[in-house]
Amino acid sequence: MNMLETVKTRRSVRTFDGNLLTQADQEKLAEYVRTIQNPYEIPVEFVFLDAKANGLSSPVLAGDTMYVAAKVGVQAHAEEAFGYSFEKLVLYAWSLGIGTTWIGGTMKRELFEKAASLKDHEIMPCMSPLGYPAKKMSVRELMMRRGVKADERKPASELFFDRAFSAPLNEEDSTVEQALEMVRYAPSAVNRQPWRVVREGKNYHFYLKHDKGYVSNSTGDLQKVDMGIAICHFMGGVKGVLSISDPGIPAEAGVEYIASVAV
Ligand SMILES: Cc1cc2nc3c(=O)[nH]c(=O)nc-3n(C[C@H](O)[C@H](O)[C@H](O)COP(=O)(O)O)c2cc1C
Repeated sequence: MNMLETVKTRRSVRTFDGNLLTQADQEKLAEYVRTIQNPYEIPVEFVFLDAKANGLSSPVLAGDTMYVAAKVGVQAHAEEAFGYSFEKLVLYAWSLGIGTTWIGGTMKRELFEKAASLKDHEIMPCMSPLGYPAKKMSVRELMMRRGVKADERKPASELFFDRAFSAPLNEEDSTVEQALEMVRYAPSAVNRQPWRVVREGKNYHFYLKHDKGYVSNSTGDLQKVDMGIAICHFMGGVKGVLSISDPGIPAEAGVEYIASVAV
C-alpha cells in the first residue's frame, strides 16, 4: 500500500476481534517506533501497554487488548511533534492491517498515565488501542461515526488558499495536490479538521482554525495535535522543509499560524 492508499483507506477502529497482536506484528511496531522522527526534532517516546495487566479500557472500544501511548516533554510545539510522530505509527499500523483510534478524551487518563509512568515534565495527549478490526462494527461505533460524520471531510475549497484566505487554491503541481489531498483525509479530534493552508510561492503556511470549546490544558491542545497530523500527511507526500516564521498573512480572529513547509 502506498501512502495515499493508506491514508484514504484508514479509519478509526473501535471494534476489535479480541485477539492480541501476533508476536511478529508486535515486533514490527516496536522496531518501527524506534525509527520515527518529526521535523520539530522533538523526541516522542512510545510505550506499549497490555490492557488487562494494566486495567486499561475505553468506553468507546470493544475487543481491545493492547494500547500504545506516547510521551513528549513539555515545550513549545510538543503537541505538533506528538501528532506528527504518532500519526506515523497509526499509518504504519494500518499498512499492516492493524487498527487504531486516536483517543484523547474517552478514557480514564490517570490509569494510562500511571501505566506509562508519565513524569511531571511530560505530557501524553493521546493513546490508541492496537488490534485487528472485527468483521462488524459495534452499534456504538456506528453511532459514534455518524455523530461526528466520520466518513466526511471538508472540501479543498474551504481548506486551501492562494496567498490570502479569500482566494481558494488551484494547485497545478500534481504531487503537491496529492499531498494536500492527504491533509484533507487526515483524522482529527471530533473530526473538526482545523487545518488551513495558504500557499505563497513554494511555501505552504499551515494555520489552525481554533474551535470554540477547545482549550489548551495540562494534557496538551488536541487541535495542535491535529495540526501535527496534517503536517505529517503533507510531508509524507512532498519533500519539504519545515520552518516556523509567521508570514503575516491577515487571518480572522481564532486562526493561528503554526508552521510553513517549503517544497
Ligand atoms: C487528536 C485526536 C483525538 C481524538 N480523540 C478521540 C477520542 O477521545 N475518542 C474517540 O472515540 N475518537 C477520538 N478521535 C478520533 C476521531 O473522532 C476520528 O479520527 C474522526 O472522527 C475521523 O474519523 P476516522 O478516524 O475514522 O477517519 C480523536 C482523533 C484525534 C486526531
